[in-house]
Amino acid sequence: MRTKLIAGNWKMHKTIGEAVALIDALHAALPTIPADRQVIVCPTFTALAAVAARPHGAIGIGAQNVYPESHGAYTGEIAPGMLTDIGCSHVIIGHSERRAIFGETDAFIAQKAAAALAAGLTPIICVGETKQERESGRAEAVVLGQVAGSLAGLSDRLADVVIAYEPVWAIGTGLTATAADAQTMHAAIRGELRRIGGAAADVVRIQYGGSVKPDNVDELMAQPDIDGALVGGAALVAESFARIANYK
Ligand code: PGA
Repeated sequence: MRTKLIAGNWKMHKTIGEAVALIDALHAALPTIPADRQVIVCPTFTALAAVAARPHGAIGIGAQNVYPESHGAYTGEIAPGMLTDIGCSHVIIGHSERRAIFGETDAFIAQKAAAALAAGLTPIICVGETKQERESGRAEAVVLGQVAGSLAGLSDRLADVVIAYEPVWAIGTGLTATAADAQTMHAAIRGELRRIGGAAADVVRIQYGGSVKPDNVDELMAQPDIDGALVGGAALVAESFARIANYK
């Protein structure tokens, strides 16, 4: 039985004061979390310390990015050990916005994932096809290629990673993959994980992301290979994220 993972990706939103208000509201809304699931929030770097310092109960804390070196002359970057130091247990890696806007490659994402694992962080490795790739029938090939490339050299650490399948055309658009289409891709991803790492594939959590909302989360979470959700817009409002975390 895979422990489900519901993660809120706050992206580049919330000042420190706003982030503190949100974690306080979430803590009030989610005083306890059922044992079958884990819930985390991923604030901006500037708000991480303030959020981690508030009472947050069973809600875990993650970051949205990391650099794959422990220290050094990397102006503007943040090391894995700095994230554990501040109280992070997870880090989102290779989000489609980072792939598209900042040119992150599968090879760089694999380096980041390795560094995160070495520091004891759980990497949430994001994959997903664009609208054009889906329309031209290449969605599965693209996504499985990203899975293999982003896990290069990590076949013996599969059990410790989380994969987030986020079709790019569904992110922030209000469009969601149907639960059936998402399940089909998740099953294909699990097949690829099995090819890479054998039986460990069965313990890897595969999250769905892309316009997850209170009104579609239950159907998505009912699919056998959907093990959680990576939530953007709906994670910025305590009431909606709490409802998603309380999926049925
Ligand atoms: P969204 O974002 O829920 O706003 O579509 C999801 C994500 O980008 O992680």
